[in-house]
Amino acid sequence: MSLMEALHWRYAAKRMNGKKISRGTLDTILEAARLAPSSYGLQPYSVLVVEDETLRERIRHAACDQPQVSECSHLLIFAAWTEVEGRHVDELIALTAAARDLDPKELEGYRQSLHAAIAGFTPEEKQQWAARQAYIALGTALTAAAAERIDASPMEGFDPPALDDLLGLEERGLRSVLLLALGYRDMAEDRLAGLAKVRWPRERFVVEWSGA
Ligand SMILES: Cc1cc2nc3c(=O)[nH]c(=O)nc-3n(C[C@H](O)[C@H](O)[C@H](O)COP(=O)(O)O)c2cc1C
Repeated sequence: MSLMEALHWRYAAKRMNGKKISRGTLDTILEAARLAPSSYGLQPYSVLVVEDETLRERIRHAACDQPQVSECSHLLIFAAWTEVEGRHVDELIALTAAARDLDPKELEGYRQSLHAAIAGFTPEEKQQWAARQAYIALGTALTAAAAERIDASPMEGFDPPALDDLLGLEERGLRSVLLLALGYRDMAEDRLAGLAKVRWPRERFVVEWSGA
């Protein structure tokens, strides 16, 4: 299946049939999310994987009772770091030096510019910025899932403070931003299965900018 066929095939499944996806396929989707780009490469979020049925049932209560939360195979929670600090920049610089076999001194200018960028954010801006990075990983995971023929249902429809309390995320320096249910569509139960895609027409969506 080509990438375009996969993107036409996918939709945000509202009902899933509980069938399990293989660990290998799950790992491919998680790896795609890990490889997503992020501003400064800081990846200021984590992806939590929840398979436990009882826990997913409880999460469903905090997620507007959306059935796909309990009917999926695995639920991913994209959670932004509550703190993004200089120490994270220093860790990233060390990681970069190791991955590229560089002397960290060669990255000193870059390190300082990242420190300045992080210091320039208000706490609110930092939270928003971290959450935006998580959305990029969500998009990448959605595309990877489609390529693997796995249904994926993204959700903002949940109560983040309630979910954070339930999972004790604040103590771990995390704040939930997005959910992604992974599994298989239930063709019989899902009223959206098989419906035509609805998107703005290309001529409305793409503006061929003439400069005038
Ligand atoms: C960030 C994001 C949040 C979403 N939240 C929900 C949600 O909470 N519940 C839901 O049923 N669908 C949710 N959706 C699914 C969208 O409604 C769906 O992607 C959109 O209508 C386009 O349809 P398609 O993805 O099936 O092609 C969300 C999608 C995105 C990208």
